[in-house]
Parts: sequence; C-alpha cells; structure tokens
Amino acid sequence: MPSMAKRSHDPCSIGKFSNGKQNRQTEFSARRQKIAQQRKSIPIASVEKRLIEEVQKNDILIIVGETGSGKTTQIPQFLFGAGFCRDGKVIGITQPRRVAAITVAKRVAEECGVELGQKVGYSVRFDDTTSSSTRIKYMTDGLLLREALLDPYLSKYSVIIVDEAHERTVHTDVLLALLKNVQSARSRSVADDQGVNFGKKNVNAGMSLEKEYGGQSNSFLKKDNREKYAPLKLIIMSASLDARTFSEYFGNAKSVHIQGRQFPVDIFYTCHPEEDYLDASLITIFQIHLKEDPGDILVFLTGQEEIESVEKLINDRLSQFPEGSQKLQVVPIFAALPSEQQLRVFAPAPFGFRKVILATNIAETSVTIPGVKYVIDPGFVKARSYDSGKDMESLIIVPTSKSQALQRSGRAGREGPGKCFRLYPESEFEKLEDSTKPEIKRCNLSNVILQLKALGVDDIVGFDFIEKPSRTTIIKSLEQLFSLGALTDDCQLSDPVGHQMARLPLDPIYSKAIILASQYNCLEDMLITVAMLSVESIFYAPREKQVEARTAIKCFSSPEGDHITLINVYRASNDFLERRSIEMGKAKIEKAFKKWCKDNFISSRSLRHARDIHRQIRVHAEQMGLNLASCGDDMLQYRRCLAASFFLNAAVKQPEGTYRALASGLVVQIHPSSVLFRQKPECIIFNELVQTNSKYVRNVSSIDYLWLTELVPQYYVVKN
Ligand code: CDP
Ligand code: MG
Repeated sequence: MPSMAKRSHDPCSIGKFSNGKQNRQTEFSARRQKIAQQRKSIPIASVEKRLIEEVQKNDILIIVGETGSGKTTQIPQFLFGAGFCRDGKVIGITQPRRVAAITVAKRVAEECGVELGQKVGYSVRFDDTTSSSTRIKYMTDGLLLREALLDPYLSKYSVIIVDEAHERTVHTDVLLALLKNVQSARSRSVADDQGVNFGKKNVNAGMSLEKEYGGQSNSFLKKDNREKYAPLKLIIMSASLDARTFSEYFGNAKSVHIQGRQFPVDIFYTCHPEEDYLDASLITIFQIHLKEDPGDILVFLTGQEEIESVEKLINDRLSQFPEGSQKLQVVPIFAALPSEQQLRVFAPAPFGFRKVILATNIAETSVTIPGVKYVIDPGFVKARSYDSGKDMESLIIVPTSKSQALQRSGRAGREGPGKCFRLYPESEFEKLEDSTKPEIKRCNLSNVILQLKALGVDDIVGFDFIEKPSRTTIIKSLEQLFSLGALTDDCQLSDPVGHQMARLPLDPIYSKAIILASQYNCLEDMLITVAMLSVESIFYAPREKQVEARTAIKCFSSPEGDHITLINVYRASNDFLERRSIEMGKAKIEKAFKKWCKDNFISSRSLRHARDIHRQIRVHAEQMGLNLASCGDDMLQYRRCLAASFFLNAAVKQPEGTYRALASGLVVQIHPSSVLFRQKPECIIFNELVQTNSKYVRNVSSIDYLWLTELVPQYYVVKN
C-alpha cells in the first residue's frame, strides 16, 4: 500500500503555511457564508414569520419539532429580530444539559457574528459567560431555578424558552410549575398587586410533618411589592410528539409542529444478546469503518468512563493498522468534557477521514452533530434511580426506552439515508418501555424541596407539579432535610443552616458537609473532597493495565479511605503545578500536567474539572464568610467531620464481610475500586451507591462508630 502523508488534502493545513493573514480572512468569510447558507436551508427558516405571529398571539406556546430542525439555535434569533429584547430585556433558553447550553450558545454567537458573552452567552453551574449586554442567554434549567431565588419575578426576561421539555428532568418539571406562577403573577402585577400563589393548602401528609401542610401563606413574593412587571412569554419546546401533556398542564395552550427532514434509516439487530456491549461496539465501529461507505459514526455510551475506555481501545487498535490506513478520528462528548473541547464534535473530520463520535445520551436530542450516517446503539443509558422505601438513590445503567432508541436511530438519517446498529436482538426491542419515566418519579427530592422552601413554597405536597412525585418520596426527602438540620420542627428553613444550604449550588448533603467543616476547622479539605466527589471518576484504570494502575494509586492511597486518598491526589497535583509554573510556560504546563496524570492513572479531564469546581465553591464559601481553615496533616478532625456530615450513609460490617447501611438497612459491599476493598474496616461512611449485579458503595472512608452517637445523637440515639 502506498504510504500517504496524513491530512495531505486538508485545505486548512495547506492554508496555514501559505499567505497566513489573507487566507485566514478568506477562510473566515467562507465560513460565515457557509453558516448563512446553512441557516437558510434548515426547515425552520421557512416558518419564521408564522412562528413569530404565534408567539405574539399566545402567551404560552408549545413547539414540537424533529431534532435538528433548528428550534434551539434559530427561534431565539427570530425572537430577537422581532424585537423581544427591546428595553434591554433578555430571551432565556433553558437546557437540561450543560453541554447543550454551552455548545449551542457558542454556535449561535458564531451565527450572529458576535463574541460569546456579548449579545449571546451561556450560564451554567460553575461557568457564567454572560454580561450586561447579553440578550440571548442559554442556561441549564437548574440555573434558572437558582436565579428565581434572587429575582422571583425573573424580571429581566421577556421570553423564557424551556427547551428539551420531553426530557422531563426534575429541574424542568419544577421550572414549569414555577414559570406558570411567575407568568400569572407578572400579568396580575399590572392589574392588581397579588403575589405568586402556589397550589392548594391544608393537604395533610400525616406523620410528624403535619405542620408542613398547615395554613401558612403559599406566596413566595412579598405582598407589599408594588412594582409592575411586563408580561412574560413562555415557550415550551420538545422533540417528542406528545405535546398534549404540556398543553393540558398549561390550560390547553396552543401547540405548533415544525416539519423536520428525515431520511430512511435501516435498522440492524444482533442475532443474540451481546455479553459485553463495549466490545461489541468496538467490533461494529471497525466493521463499519472497513466495509461501509463514507459517513461518520455516532456511538451511544453511558458515561465518561466508558467513553474514555472505548476511545483508548480504538486508538490502540488503530496504532496496529498500517500507516496511512488509520483514517479514523475519535471525538468524545460528555458533560464533564472541558468546554473548549466540546466543539470538536461539530468540526468535520480531516479530508478522507471518518469521524467516530463517542457520546452519552446528550447526542439523542440535545445536540445535533452534522455528518452522521451510522449510529451504534448498545441500548443502555445511565439513569437515576430512587428507592423511596430504603431512601436510597443510585445511578444505574438501564435499558433505553423505545422512544430513546427511535431518537438515537433517527440521528443517522439527518442528511441522507443511514444505518443504525442496535446491539441487541429485535425481540429485546419489543420488551422496552415505551418512554422514559420522568426523573421526578425516580429521584430523591431533598435538593428540589430545599430550593422550593427557599423560594417560599410551603406546601410541597400541594405544589402544582406537572406529574406529582410520590408522597413517600416527598416525606422521605423532608425527613432527610430535617435530619441534616435544614428544616425546623415546623418545616421551615432553619436559620442559618437551612438558608446557607440553599445558597450553595450543591446536593444538600454536600452543602451540609461544607457548613460543618467550617466548624471543624477543615473546610479547605472538605472543599477539595466535595469537588473531587462531584466529577465522574478521578482514577482511570484501562482494562489491560489494571495491575499497573493499582500500583500507581498506592502512592496516593490512605489506609483511612477514599476521601483522604482523593485529597492526596489533589494536593499532589497542586504541588506538581506549583513546581512547574516556576519552570515553564502555560502550554508546556498543560502538556506536563497531562503526562503526570497519565503516568499516575488519573483522568486529566476529571481532575481539571474538579479543580475548576473547587475554585468556584471556594468563592461561595468565602462569600458566605465561612472559616477557611485546613486541618493540614491532622486528619482525625477531618474524619470526624466526614462522620458528622455523611452519617446518613454510615454502614457497619457484618460477620460475612458485607456491610449493613444503618439508615436504610440495605446490605452493600465495598466497590473493588475503593482503597478499603480488602481492608474492610468495622464501620464506614460512603458517598455513592452503584448497582450492578450486587449493591456496591464507592468513595468510602473508615470511621469510629462511636463518633456517630457522639456527633449526631439526634439521629443515632433515637434510631439505633
Ligand atoms: O433544536 P433542534 O434539534 O431543532 O436543532 P438545532 O440544535 O437548532 O440545530 C439546527 C442545525 O444546526 C442542525 O443541523 C445542527 O447540525 C446545526 N448545528 C451545528 O452545526 N453546530 C452546532 N454547534 C449546533 C447546531
Ligand atoms: Mg434543540
């Protein structure tokens, strides 16, 4: 086979070496022209006028449209053009996923020919690019909920678009209820001067929480507020065809359908169930690459760990191919990917190359990647699951629903006929659920309840949810908040703990840990812990190098558990970066940092992400005036703080070596990835429950069980 220089036909790489500046300008205007052309040709462009009229006529509009038809990128621009941002008002668009908010904002800024953060910007937890000139603002649904805490009328928005409503995340569901009330309050504020009212009162939930549903006012806005607000337009957008649920919820609101373009997709199933879907994905990728016509491949995996492992397997296998025949470019996309790397999936592969996109379910409907002709769907997704009886939430890998499978295969037919390879037999497809259960039905609600309480919503059971969570879940979540000290006996936010917890953009259990750590003089260490626990997985152990990885982890591991081990990694990365920053420039540091991570079997992406989160929560802690002290090498105090913070997840060893979780009674085992897997201490606390064939706990530390009765007597004396 003749050897060919890589990328020899790539016009960009040729351009770089010839007349630089002029070429860049030509490239730039060519790209602008191409974007303008694309904008004109997407299906939604032909209905701009009609859509604007519908928005003007209806205060609430439901827009349903095929994925890729241009809803997310175009509608806000149409509205801007039609004058919805007059008087400095903002169009807000919420997304369930941060990746979508970020990549779409970048795309729209480019389409408008503006710098990100000027007219177009995004704001997601721990990353805000907006400025006072931002008029089109993309954000996560959770972030808009937080904004409501500071500005209950959401007064700066003229239009709020809730995008991807079919995903039915718990934040979207709560937001819909909130917006319904804000909208009617804003309309009423012009006529009279009422506050925002929430749902029914006097619903009796029984138990000790009766006062929760007492006759207090449900208004979260002060009654004496005399300000007048402009009416708010609401648009609910969704990819699936069921507009009825939303329409009914909003009093039979008008819905419009946007015609998409969909080419036929051939579906292939395996003859037998696959034992290892990662392996099966790998084989299918190479089968397509070697046998099928040009076109990019989109593979749906369940999370960062799987994506990174498949990425590595593909690159390893490619390195065994003869030079010049390796023309496969692998690009990952998942939530924790640094934002500057996320846009790589949208760029075309170099000339003659085939792109393989390894994605989580982000690529189902939230982001549309051009060029995809082949979809590989192993049929799984990582989802939250909640057992309210045991009050245990976990992330589990479950089969997709039929509608998810259909969305996934649809991705292959956006630009021409495509093929979808489902890595399971056809008989399995028939057994799938029709659609995914809303998240509110399968998660712990303490986070949401804390926020609703902070908004002044007293009656949680009577709250106007689009779909009611179960009473047991609400009661369990209230109990959990009560145990954490966030609620008073009569179910009000406690002062200061409850209010402080609501201010922190973290799970209540982590917020509590941070507040306690301030008292235990180990806040610096707890901030690191919470940041490290907020990313998917710090350690990275490729299958073929498990032994080397275990040896590398030993340099950081602490006999006291995973929490101190994570702190050790973080501190070591600090030392490394401090030393290097004296010696080298920024670009070189980044390269050296990646190498350091690789040598130590650490995911550099995760560690960077954790460092970023750490920086931001530290700012919150500072603003709240918490005591930023470190316990240094005296880890006893820190471990006592772990016990006092995570007491709801304490477990004791059973004679046969398993553990019994004290609060739930669940029988669990220490996950093999934990540094305590072999040591098996008498009593532990843990942060994560993973369910595979058995129930495993991850991020485990040993504690003295007497600390529980000493430090949290209100819980452990009474209960055990
Ligand atoms: O929201 P919806 O699924 O209806 O479509 P969209 O996200 O607005 O995408 C419209 C078009 O823009 C699609 O053809 C995408 O492929 C393209 N797009 C892109 O090329 N790059 C991006 N970063 C985002 C969208
Ligand atoms: Mg969209």
